[in-house]
Amino acid sequence: MNPPPHKIQVPEGSGLRAAITGTGSYLPERVMTNADFAKIVETTDEWIMTRTGIRERHLARVDETPSDMGIVAARRALEKAGISAEAVEMIIVATLSPDYAFPNTGCLVQAGIGAKNAFCFDLEAACSGFVYGLEMARRCVEAGGIRTALVLGAEKMSSIVDYTDRQTCVLFGDGAGAAIVQGVRDGRGVLGTVLGSDGTLADLLIQKAGGSRMPATEETVRQKMHMIRMSGREVFKHAVLNMSQAAKKALECSGCAMEEIACVVPHQANLRIIEAIAARLGVGLDRFYLNVERTGNMSSASIPVALDEAIACGRVKPGDKVLTVAFGSGFTWGATVIQF
Ligand SMILES: CC(C)(COP(=O)(O)OP(=O)(O)OC[C@H]1O[C@@H](n2cnc3c(N)ncnc32)[C@H](O)[C@@H]1OP(=O)(O)O)[C@@H](O)C(=O)NCCC(=O)NCCS
Repeated sequence: MNPPPHKIQVPEGSGLRAAITGTGSYLPERVMTNADFAKIVETTDEWIMTRTGIRERHLARVDETPSDMGIVAARRALEKAGISAEAVEMIIVATLSPDYAFPNTGCLVQAGIGAKNAFCFDLEAACSGFVYGLEMARRCVEAGGIRTALVLGAEKMSSIVDYTDRQTCVLFGDGAGAAIVQGVRDGRGVLGTVLGSDGTLADLLIQKAGGSRMPATEETVRQKMHMIRMSGREVFKHAVLNMSQAAKKALECSGCAMEEIACVVPHQANLRIIEAIAARLGVGLDRFYLNVERTGNMSSASIPVALDEAIACGRVKPGDKVLTVAFGSGFTWGATVIQF
C-alpha cells in the first residue's frame, strides 16, 4: 500500500539513497549587532535577546546578491564533495529573495560555478525551502534520473526587510548554504521526509507587493508593501506546532527513535521556538545545533548554513543521524532524517 502523500519513504529494495556528500556555506562580512539596531529603532539588546535569542546577524553588501553568496557556498560544497561543477546535473536554489523575478537564481549560480551540464530552477517555500529542495533532489536521485544535484538556500533578507519595523527588522540576516546530493548505496542518505503546507494562513507572513497581484507602484513602495509583514504571535504558535509535529512524523516514517538522533538542525528563526520544539520532543537543547545568536533568521539558508557549521565543528560526524526541521511563510513546513 502506498504511504499517504505527505509521508515519503525511501523505496525498499533499490538500496539507492540520496546522500549529502558535501556542504558549504557563506556569511557576508558585515555584522549588525543588537546595539546597532538600538541606534535606528526603539529597541534594546535585552529585548531582542530575551524574545529571540539573536545577538547579531550578517548583512550582505548593497552589491552582493543571493546568487553571489550561493556561488561561494556552492564552490565550498563541491570542494568538500570532491567533485567538479561539471558533474552537477541539477541545481535547485531555494530562495524568497531571488536576484531577479526572472531569470532564476539557479541559472546565475550555474553560470558562476560553470555547471554547464545542469538544469536549474528556483524553489519558493520560504524558510522551509531547503528541506523542500532536498526532498525534490532525493526524489530525482532515487528515481535514477539524476546522479548529482546541488541544493542551495540563498537569501538576501535585508533587501525585503523594513528597517523601521522593529518587530521584524531585528529577526533576519543574509547568507547562503549548499549541499551536494548524490546517489549512494552505502547506507548513508535521507531516511524519511515529511512536508506540509497550509495556504489558508498565507496572510500571516507575507510580502504583499511586487508580484502580479500587486505590481510595484509608487504607492506600494511608499507604503512599504514590498517588504515583510508578519503577525509575530500567530507565526510563533504555528511554527511550534507544525515543526514539532513534522519532526515526530519524520522520525516515525524513517523508523528512527529520537534517541538515535545525534543532532537536530532546526530552522534558526528564534531560540524560543527551538526551545518549545525541544520540550515537545522531550530532549534538551544540547541535542540541537544552534547558530541563531550569530546569524538571525536567514530563511531558506538557515538550515544548510547550520548543517555545514555542525559538520565543520564535528557536531555531525560520519555515521550520525541528523533531524532537520523547518517552518515558513505559506505556511510551509518540513522535516527530514538524514544518515551521514
Ligand atoms: C516577533 C516576536 C519576537 C515578538 O515577540 P512577542 O513576545 O510576540 O512580542 P509582541 O509582538 O506581542 O510585542 C510585545 C511588545 O514588544 C514590542 N516590540 C516588538 N518588537 C520590539 C523590539 N524589537 N524591541 C522592543 N520592543 C519590541 C511590541 O511593540 C509590543 O509592545 P506593546 O506591548 O507596547 O504593544 C515573536 O512574536 C516571534 O518570534 N514570532 C515568530 C517570528 C518568526 O520567527 N518568524 C519567522 C518564522 S519562519
